[in-house]
Amino acid sequence: MQEQPQVLYKNRYVPGINTLEVYLQHGGYESFRKALTMTPDAIIDEVKASGLRGRGGAGFPTSVKWVAVPKNRDQEHFLIINADEGEPGTAKDRDLMNALPHLMIEGCLCSLMALNASKCYIYIRGEYIEPWKSVQKAINEARKAGFIGKNVLGSGLDFEIYTHLGAGAYECGEESALMSSLMGERGMPRMKPPYAPLPQVKGVWDKPSVVNNVETVSTLVPILAMGGAEYTKIGYGSPRSRGTKLFSISGHVNKPGIYEIVLGTPFNEVLEIAGGVKGKLKTYIPGGSSMGFAPPTPMDYPFDYEGIPQNTKTLGLGSGGLIVFNDTVPIVPLAARLTHFYHHESCGKCTPCREGLNWMAKIYDRILAGAGRESDVDLLWDICDNIRGKSFCPLGEGAIWPVMTSLTLFRDEYLQYIRTGTYTPPVAVTTAG
Ligand SMILES: Cc1cc2nc3c(=O)[nH]c(=O)nc-3n(C[C@H](O)[C@H](O)[C@H](O)COP(=O)(O)O)c2cc1C
Ligand code: SF4
Repeated sequence: MQEQPQVLYKNRYVPGINTLEVYLQHGGYESFRKALTMTPDAIIDEVKASGLRGRGGAGFPTSVKWVAVPKNRDQEHFLIINADEGEPGTAKDRDLMNALPHLMIEGCLCSLMALNASKCYIYIRGEYIEPWKSVQKAINEARKAGFIGKNVLGSGLDFEIYTHLGAGAYECGEESALMSSLMGERGMPRMKPPYAPLPQVKGVWDKPSVVNNVETVSTLVPILAMGGAEYTKIGYGSPRSRGTKLFSISGHVNKPGIYEIVLGTPFNEVLEIAGGVKGKLKTYIPGGSSMGFAPPTPMDYPFDYEGIPQNTKTLGLGSGGLIVFNDTVPIVPLAARLTHFYHHESCGKCTPCREGLNWMAKIYDRILAGAGRESDVDLLWDICDNIRGKSFCPLGEGAIWPVMTSLTLFRDEYLQYIRTGTYTPPVAVTTAG
């Protein structure tokens, strides 16, 4: 087994680490103190050297995003933290906010320094009441201790961090819909470049804005502590996938949970870290349900941003929500359940997603009710093909991957399900454990 250095989770299980007192005893806010002595360019250089890629799903290089922001304090600009976390199978940001809220706040402050900005909004998923309370308590503690407010630590700089609870819409995790929602508008996505300026130029309230994931900004704390070059030494796979990442591992594994795993760790070792598969592996979703289903082989490839697409062509690491299924699981009701989720969460702005997902959900209902037709298999594929590349935002695209990959991998099972209305596992499995 490869070594698994714990960078974000180093102090995760220290009792009381969610309080400022204990966080400070374990080196808390030292990276922020260091950031206060650095120029924005110097911080961004460290982030560039670290190779940090956004942990929200797209894996976009953080330093590239930050370079595009005008860094003049006289021109108001914002840091927005995406804590919406609605992707099925993903719960890592919840854990960070519950267990390590000061790590996240310190990450926000370091990021504000990098952007030469003074205001940060944390947009938290509506259902995340406990994480919201945890973060709010940490903000209050940090304010009392002088890390937030006016003239922070005598630096002459002001920093404000606000929380904002969403209303539980998955689409509001998409960064432009998030900004609309934050402004009190309907949570619908905006036009993207090249037809509209980048959010870094014209974002929330038409002012330059950067949206980053909770884990992305939290990772800044160890990067500044150890230096970007040192951080790149962590990683077992591609030179473009360095460091560690949090994975939410659920489904048929013996020890489901949130794990910090070095990028590039072989996939079979990732499964072992989660206690191994219960029964016989049938399929898995590598990075949240928008990434689709993967075949059970190969098992020994590097689990990182580059490793997964190389092996399975259409899949990605996404938000790190690894969902494992053994062969007791029937694929048709599973794909139906996911389609209903995306149909429910579609914001309705564009026709392919709004109408296509509605139609697909009805077809699945028909199949589950025992009235499916064999031609439904091709019909589902055709509807997906009409959504592919034609939806306004990536929700539509993400909705079709579970269906298309399930149709590719399990076409015969679909046909059998339609003919018989049941699913018979191919062999008896052991589900003990
Ligand atoms: C439908 C949809 C939902 C999303 N939900 C989230 C989310 O809950 N959290 C998140 O960080 N990014 C989410 N994203 C990705 C964001 O649009 C954006 O890429 C991300 O917040 C950027 O942060 P990062 O660069 O730090 O990864 C979502 C994207 C889409 C299309
Ligand atoms: S793809 Fe279209 S309808 Fe679906 S969520 Fe995005 S903008 Fe809304």
